[in-house]
Amino acid sequence: MTARPDAPLKVTGRARYALDNTADGGVGEVGTAYGYLLLSTVAGGELAAMDVDAVRAAPGVLGVYTPFEPLTLHPVDSALLGPMWLPLQDKDVRYHGQPIGFVVAETFEQARDAAALAEVTYHERPTATSFSDGIDSAVDAQPAARQVPPSLTVLSDGVESIEDALAASDVTVDATYETAPQNHAALEPHSALAVWADGLLTVYTGNQASHLVAADLASALGLPAEAVHVDNPVVGGAFGGKATSMPAVLASAAAQALGRPVKAALTREQVFTATANRPATMQRVALGARRDGGLVAVRHDSWSATTRDLGFVEPTSHGTSREWYSTENLAISQKAVPLDMPPATFMRAPGEAPGSFALESAVDELADALGMDPVALRRRNSSMAPAGEDLQWSSKHLDECFDIGAARFGWADRTPGGRADGDWLVGMGTATAMFPGLRFPATVGVTLHADDTAAVATAGADPGTGLLGVLRTVGAESLDVEPERVSPRLGDSRLPPGGLSGGSTATASAGSATMVAASTAIEQLLALAASADGPFHGHEVGYARGSVHALDAPDREPMTFGEVLTATGRTSLAATGSTAPGEETTKHSFGSWGAQFCEVRVHRLTREVRVSRLLGVFDAGRIINQQTARSQLMGGMIWGVSAALHEGIEFDADGRVSNHDLADYLLPVNADIPDVDVRFVEHPDTLLSDLGARGLGEIGIVGVAAAVANAVYNATGIRVRRIPIRIEDLL
Ligand code: MOS
Repeated sequence: MTARPDAPLKVTGRARYALDNTADGGVGEVGTAYGYLLLSTVAGGELAAMDVDAVRAAPGVLGVYTPFEPLTLHPVDSALLGPMWLPLQDKDVRYHGQPIGFVVAETFEQARDAAALAEVTYHERPTATSFSDGIDSAVDAQPAARQVPPSLTVLSDGVESIEDALAASDVTVDATYETAPQNHAALEPHSALAVWADGLLTVYTGNQASHLVAADLASALGLPAEAVHVDNPVVGGAFGGKATSMPAVLASAAAQALGRPVKAALTREQVFTATANRPATMQRVALGARRDGGLVAVRHDSWSATTRDLGFVEPTSHGTSREWYSTENLAISQKAVPLDMPPATFMRAPGEAPGSFALESAVDELADALGMDPVALRRRNSSMAPAGEDLQWSSKHLDECFDIGAARFGWADRTPGGRADGDWLVGMGTATAMFPGLRFPATVGVTLHADDTAAVATAGADPGTGLLGVLRTVGAESLDVEPERVSPRLGDSRLPPGGLSGGSTATASAGSATMVAASTAIEQLLALAASADGPFHGHEVGYARGSVHALDAPDREPMTFGEVLTATGRTSLAATGSTAPGEETTKHSFGSWGAQFCEVRVHRLTREVRVSRLLGVFDAGRIINQQTARSQLMGGMIWGVSAALHEGIEFDADGRVSNHDLADYLLPVNADIPDVDVRFVEHPDTLLSDLGARGLGEIGIVGVAAAVANAVYNATGIRVRRIPIRIEDLL
C-alpha cells in the first residue's frame, strides 16, 4: 500500500491539476475562453493611459479589462491574509510586474498576442527597489502572524539595558547577516478554470485550503459563500504561496462578465511578480556569553523588505531569538523596509528559515570565539521555555537529536580549521532547527459505507505534503480497519472546513479531528446496532476491528459496520468531528526540534562549494508516516541548501526581476545534493493533541543554510554572512 493515495494518479499523468479540468456541463454550447495577464513595466507611479484599441481588435478577443475599464471586484478581508489587494481596481503602480490588465480570447495564444499590443503610459515616480535605497525609511513593524509588538526586551533584575548585558559578558560576537528574497517556484504555476452554471461558480485552482479560497472569491465577487465552489484535490506545490490566486480572481470575474468558462494561468515569469515572495532580510545579532558558554545576552534586530503598505513583514527576530535558547537577557526588534517591490508573503518556515541563518551562524561564531564545540554550546543553552515566558515546552528532545546526529555524522572527527582531501577543503557545520508546534481549528467528516469501506474528508489540501495519506492512516486506525478500506478526500470547499496546509498544522489539526469524527461515527453505529430496529437490540454492544459485537453475549457472531448498516436499511452513516487549539496553550509551549549537520567540500582553487553530506535528526512528536515525513523533511533540507548556495531573486536597478525563470533562478539539481539522511526521535506529544504528532512540514529547511555556512567556515576559515554564498565570497 502506497503512503500516498494519489501517487498512482500522479506518476501516470492522470492527476488533474487546475488547468487539466474542463468545463464539461458548463455553460451550454459556449466553449472555454482563455485569459492572459498584462503586467506593469515600471516599478512605481500611476497609469496615465492604456490604449487597448488594437488589443480589442485583435483576432478572437472577447474581453479587455484594465483599471480604466475594470472587472467589478469587492473588497476582501481574507481569513488567512487580511485585507487583499485586488487587481485592476486602481491606477497605482507599486512594482514592476504588477497585474494591470486581463485579456480574454478564444485561445491562449490569441489572448497572449493581443495583450502584447497594449500601449501603456505611466506617470512615473522615484522608486526604492533595493535595501540600500530603502533602509533610511525603515519603520518599526509588527512581524507577520505574530501577535506581538515590534520589539521585546526581557532583562534580569538589576540589568539596565541589553547593551550593559552585552558589555558585561566575557565573550561577545556582533555581526550582520543578509538573506536573499526567494520565490516559491512551485512546479504548477498559479492557474484557474472558472465555470459558471445555474448561479454557481465552480473554480478549479490549486490552493492550500479550498474553503478559505472559496470564501475569499465569494467576497471578491460579492456573492454569498454558498455560490462559490472551489475544487482542486491535486496541487503542484504551494509552500505558502497558494493561499490566494490572482488567476482565480480574474478568471472568475471574467467568466461572470462574459458568461463563459475562463481559464487563466501565470507564465513562469509572471509567477515571480504576480504572486508574492519571501522578502529579503537583514539581521544584526549580538550574543554575549560567560567563559563557560552560558548565554548572558541575546540581541536580534531584523529588517524585512516589504511593500509600501507594510503588507507582510518576515518575522525573523521574534521566532528565532525568543524560542531557541535560554538567556538571561534578551532584546529583539523588527523593522520593515518599504520598497517598490512585489509583495511578500509566507514561505516555508516564514521567519524561522531566514532567522535561523542569522542566529545559528552567530551561535557558531560564538562557539569559535569561546573555543567551544558548537554542539556543546547549543546544548549548554537549550531552552526549557520561550524566553520571557514560564510555559515550558511540552516535549523537547533536542539533546537526543544532537546525540544521535553527532554519532551518525562522525562529528567527533571535526577539527577547528577542517581538513584537506586533495584539492578539496572539507568542513563540517551544525545548526539547531526549531518550528513552533501549532494547531488550527479543523472539522473532518467520516462516513461509514454499507460495503465496509469508509471515507475521511476535509476541505484542506495536500500540495505534496502527505496529508491525504495521513487522513487514511489516522482514519483506519481510529476505525480499527485496514487502510485499504479507507478513502481519503481533500481539496473540495464543500467538504467540512479543515486541514489547511499552512503553519505545519495540517496533521495535528485534521488528524485529531479525524479521531473525533471516527469515534462519533462508532458511537452512532453502536446506538444504531442496539436500537429497537437494530441487529443487537437488547444487548450491550462494543466495537473492535471494524465490527460490532455483543459485550454480554461473547458467542454471538460480530457484525461488520457494513453489515449493521445493511441490516438497518442504511447505505451509510456520516459523522463529523472538530478540534481546535484549547486549554493546552495555557499550560505548555509547543515546538518541533531538530539537529542539522552538513559537510561541505570547497575546491581550493575554484572555490566551488559542494555539499557532500547532510543529516537532520528531528523531534516532531509521533510520526504518522515515516516515508512521507522523511520526504517532507528531505525536501525542506534540500531547500535549505538551495537558500545557502543557489537561490535568490535578483532585481535590476529598475526593480525588474532579472532571473524570473527556472534557468536563471538557480535551484539545486540532483548533482548538487548528496544522499540526505533524515532521522526521527519519536516521542508522541499528546499534550498538543490526542494524535501525538507535531508539525514537520517547515522545520526541515530551518537551520540548514547556517549549517552550510558554518561548514564553509570550518573548511575555509571564511565567514560568509550573506546567502546565497557565491564563489566570489570565498576568493
Ligand atoms: Mo506555510 S509558509 O505556513 O503556508
